Amino acid sequence: MTSNSMLWTDTLSTGDARMDETHLEFIERINQLLATPEDQQLALYRDFLDHTVAHFAQEERWMLATGFSADNCHAEHHAAILETMRAVEAHYMDTDKRIITRMAEALAEWFPGHAASMDAGLAAHLQSVGFDSVSETLADPSTIKNVTMSGCGSVSCS
Ligand SMILES: [Fe+2]
Ligand SMILES: [Fe+2]
Repeated sequence: MTSNSMLWTDTLSTGDARMDETHLEFIERINQLLATPEDQQLALYRDFLDHTVAHFAQEERWMLATGFSADNCHAEHHAAILETMRAVEAHYMDTDKRIITRMAEALAEWFPGHAASMDAGLAAHLQSVGFDSVSETLADPSTIKNVTMSGCGSVSCS
């Protein structure tokens, strides 16, 4: 653990156990990166990027299964983060060996706000429509038949 490592706290809990488990893995990877010498971060960073692609895809799959349109604002936020993370990999390989640490620190700052707003909003939505995130099924598929949401549910897009 380094002094700037991230800790799991109850305020990060979204109310969905599977989402929280993925978030814990996300935090563990940030901490691993921050504890690793900068010239040895590339493999870990690539693993972190793959994990984050899967993390965001999981949430977006759940959104689509519960009535969100594909271009909703939560998914747009994810896409912006992934674009930045890919650019960081390129800059690291090019010349900037400090950039992965800066990205990990920036994500550690970004994550609590995202978890508390968009992710917690999604978790509340999943519960309200009876979606089970473990089996990825709806208790009653007719509940969302005619619902299409382009925003973030109860959470405003900023
Ligand atoms: Fe998330
Ligand atoms: Fe998210």
